[in-house]
Order: sequence, then structure tokens, then C-alpha cells
Amino acid sequence: MSRFSVVAYTFGILFFIVSCSMAVFYGYKVVTHHLPVEKKVPEPYKYHFVLVPEELDNEYWRLVESGAKAAAKKYGVLLEYSGPKQANIDDHLKTIEMSAASKVDGILTQGLSDEQFTPLINRVIADGIPVITVDTDAANSLRLAYIGTDNYYSGFLAGKALITDTNGRANVAIITGTFYANHQQQRVKGFQDAVKDEPGIHIIDIQQSEISTVKAAEKANQLLKDHPEINAFYGTSALDGIGIAQVIEKYKKQREVYVIGFDTLPETLDYIRRGTIKATVVQQPYEMGYRAVKMMIDIIEGKTVSQVVHTETRIMRIGDLPVSGMRNKEDNH
Ligand code: BGC
Repeated sequence: MSRFSVVAYTFGILFFIVSCSMAVFYGYKVVTHHLPVEKKVPEPYKYHFVLVPEELDNEYWRLVESGAKAAAKKYGVLLEYSGPKQANIDDHLKTIEMSAASKVDGILTQGLSDEQFTPLINRVIADGIPVITVDTDAANSLRLAYIGTDNYYSGFLAGKALITDTNGRANVAIITGTFYANHQQQRVKGFQDAVKDEPGIHIIDIQQSEISTVKAAEKANQLLKDHPEINAFYGTSALDGIGIAQVIEKYKKQREVYVIGFDTLPETLDYIRRGTIKATVVQQPYEMGYRAVKMMIDIIEGKTVSQVVHTETRIMRIGDLPVSGMRNKEDNH
């Protein structure tokens, strides 16, 4: 065999051995290769709901939102919280319209005024999108259910509390959120009915705060100037009592002027502890939000729900606040 043939054979054999080894090596790799473990993709949500409040950053509505979000998390719902930054009825209506146009599975909102909300709610329902009213009902609309305070009754309770606390003698000024909103009207009407047979109770004037603490304070200030005989205030929405209390403290009139407000926001409870606000009407905003989401799911899934669900309402005074640990317990619901 020539030298050339020996070299060629040797290369051939080496090449063969290397090829075989590589084939065995990569073959083994392919067989024993582990595919990457599939990353856990978050479960897609079952439904998409929108909660439209009258004022996004209002502390009261943040409580409704947190209840709704807790239920949404539990039941696999994507919950959007969207609406006017500051109370504005046109923006509120527009947000409902836009939510309907984007074909969400359900809308939770207030039924603020019959004139504007009822036709819109009816149109949305006709388009096949379920609507539940929360906090404020549009009882004459086709909304599928309402969950929230019995607003007339809560106003009635406020009137009875004022009679008890003032021994039936008071010249009252009312500051209400807005004149046009159904629930504010009902809270005023309930109050008027509760005091109407009391000869010593006189309603002197009624003003609106436009859902603003600053405006509530301005109105309270003006009312005291215009009517020095006023010695009691009734604030019918969450920020009214706070605005009134600021003015009462400014003039150091805590002893002479009785104040009853609405809701249990942290500031309201502080004024109760200090004796400036004497009583407040308790609502359940967290529960409203939570149960509204659950009701919407039940409706979509064909279960029977009550058309009107009233959450608890009652009067709270300083004696009802626990001595310690009260902030956390009472401030959040
Ligand atoms: C009412 C809400 C309102 C809020 C305003 C609450 O008492 O229930 O409807 O938006 O006050 O601060």
C-alpha cells in the first residue's frame, strides 16, 4: 500500500469515528432534551365590568371601588373604575356611553337623575348590556337591579336623630350634594317628613355643595351670616358634614350648633371624636361594591337576584365609636 493510501485510509477511519461519535452525542441530547416548562399564563378573566361613579377620587367611591375589586378578584372579573375626576354629570354620562360602546359585559353605576340617566340606561339595556345601579337608584329605568342605601329611610333616620339630639328644638340648614340627584332628594325628603310634625324644628334654608368640601364650607359660612338663628346643620352627602364642621370649628360654635352628616370617612369620625359632628348616617360603600359585582355575575349567569337590595344604614354618634382600634374598624367601611 502506498503512503498516500495509508494516510487516506487513516483519515477516512478517523472521519468515520468522529461522525459516529457526534451522531451518538447529538442523538442522545435530542432524546434526553427537556422542553422548557410552560410558564403559567394568568387565567383570562370571565367578564369585563365597568364601575362608573360620579367622582373618581372621592374617598367614599374609593371604598365602593375596593369592595368591587375584591369581588372581581375572587370571581375572575376584569373591573375597570372609570368616570369624572370631579363630579360632572356630562362626563359621567359619556363614560357610561363609552363603556357600552366598547361592549363590556356589565355596567355598574349610579342612577343620578331620572331625566338624564333613565333614557341612557334604557338604551344600554336595549343594546344587550346589563346595568345595575349602585348607591343611587334610577327606579324608573330598566336597570336590572339596585344595591345601596334606602336613601329616603336614611334621611328619615337623620331627621329622627336630630329631633332626639336637639330635644325637638332647632333651626336647621341643609347642605345637600346636588339638587338634581335622586338620592340627595330622597335624603332631604326623608328628613323633611321626619321633622314635619315637630313644632320646634324649622328648616331655614337648603343649599348644594356640588360634592365639594370647599363649597360645603362656603355655603355653611354664608348660611350662618344670612341666618344667625341657624343652630343645626344637616349634610346629606359624604363631604358636606366635613365642610360644615370646618366652619363650626373656625367660629368655635361646637356647643351652639348641632351637626349631623353622612358617612364614616376618617375625617368625619375625627370630627365626631372632637364633638363637632354629633351624629352621622352610616352607609356600606364597600359592601355595595362587592355585592354589586356578584349580583352582576348572577344576572349574566341566569340566576335570580332581588331587584332592590338595601344595604344597612344607621345613625352613629360618639358613643358608638369603640374606644381603641376604632380607626381601622370604622374608617374603612
Ligand atoms: C353618597 C354618594 C356621593 C358622596 C359624595 C355619599 O354620601 O352616597 O353618592 O357621591 O356622598 O361625597
